[in-house]
Amino acid sequence: MSRIYLDHAATTPLDPEVLDAMLPYLREDFGNPSSVHTLGQRARGAIDEARARVAALLGARDAEIVFTGSGTEADNMAIVGATLAGAAPVDGPARANVVTSAIEHHAVLNGAKGLSRATHEVTLARVEENGEVDLQDLEQLVDHATALVSIMLANNETGVIQPLGEVVRIAHAKGALVHTDAVQALGKIPLDVRRLEVDLLTASAHKIHGPKGTGALYVRSGTRMAALIRGGSQERNRRAGTENVAGIVGFGKAAEIARVRLLDDGKRIASLRDRLEIGLMEAGRGTVLRNGSSNRICSTTSLSFEGVPGEDLLIALDLAGICVSTGAACAAGSPEPSHVLKAMGLSRDRVNGSLRFSLGRGTTAEEIDRTIDAVTATAERLRRKRSSGALTSRTAET
Ligand SMILES: Cc1ncc(COP(=O)(O)O)c(C=O)c1O
Repeated sequence: MSRIYLDHAATTPLDPEVLDAMLPYLREDFGNPSSVHTLGQRARGAIDEARARVAALLGARDAEIVFTGSGTEADNMAIVGATLAGAAPVDGPARANVVTSAIEHHAVLNGAKGLSRATHEVTLARVEENGEVDLQDLEQLVDHATALVSIMLANNETGVIQPLGEVVRIAHAKGALVHTDAVQALGKIPLDVRRLEVDLLTASAHKIHGPKGTGALYVRSGTRMAALIRGGSQERNRRAGTENVAGIVGFGKAAEIARVRLLDDGKRIASLRDRLEIGLMEAGRGTVLRNGSSNRICSTTSLSFEGVPGEDLLIALDLAGICVSTGAACAAGSPEPSHVLKAMGLSRDRVNGSLRFSLGRGTTAEEIDRTIDAVTATAERLRRKRSSGALTSRTAET
């Protein structure tokens, strides 16, 4: 039986049309976009077209898009680059501090470690039980020494959309820049950087059926940025290095497809997600880990299967041909409980029993029904084994 892939928040399969668009730039049109000759100019033209397509998906101007080597790099560039530029102002007081939240991706949390602790303070706003950043706490943390506020648009584990309008109001009132990591929101909800009023926004190609290793940072025109990678004058001196032409072309094509399909795909995927949640809750096997009031993207849901370690369930489902993920970030083989679910105040048992299901463009109703059956049967079997003492998982022990 064919494999069921429900881990689209981790990565998505490359769209065949995207691959077709990329192939010429890996074969005959291999020129360096900085070269003056015809092959170079063809590559340059392809990058320009891709930039316009990514800009169109974001409601940005072409010149405001900087291509990077990943979403992670774009997050680092935003946090470190904009903060360093703000710490040496041409006018007004120096601003050196960063305010972010406890549920950000590690690209943001660890990216901020690129700032010296001696000169920059990084503080984390709390989150509420429903997975939204606590705006009152945020408001207390932001002051006139804050260079940048970085709050993600949609969370990668829960899918919860953050109240960015309020975040922007709080940050701009104190004169701080706003960065949002929109990696999980891109292609799922309509995005318009002018309406969002953010200064910086991160995107990544491989979450929207584009290639891995290509990201972008939207930098509102007029925003000062220190370059992290120095060398040639590529990307208007903001990111040196010969461009990944095929990757960028793929990102452009994926962005164009996402823009056209966004609303139809969104409705269909949200109804399949609801079918999955209802099916698992009716079978008495799962609890959705968020408060019903929170706003979320269509594709991602985090469920907890109490009494069954998520890691054991994940492995058993993989053996049954179903790919999902736990909230755990595995580092050097040791599963860490999800920092996101912990920050939402969930009990240890709930966090350890959590699984993330993330649906995508290719997900079918038949796959969802097969998943409900498989999860229900597997969770039951693992629970029975556990109560008879046969199962001793690392997660259960810690
Ligand atoms: C919210 C979020 N930010 C950033 C990233 C990093 O993007 P990339 O894999 O392109 O480095 C991810 C990827 O999982 C993500 O989910």
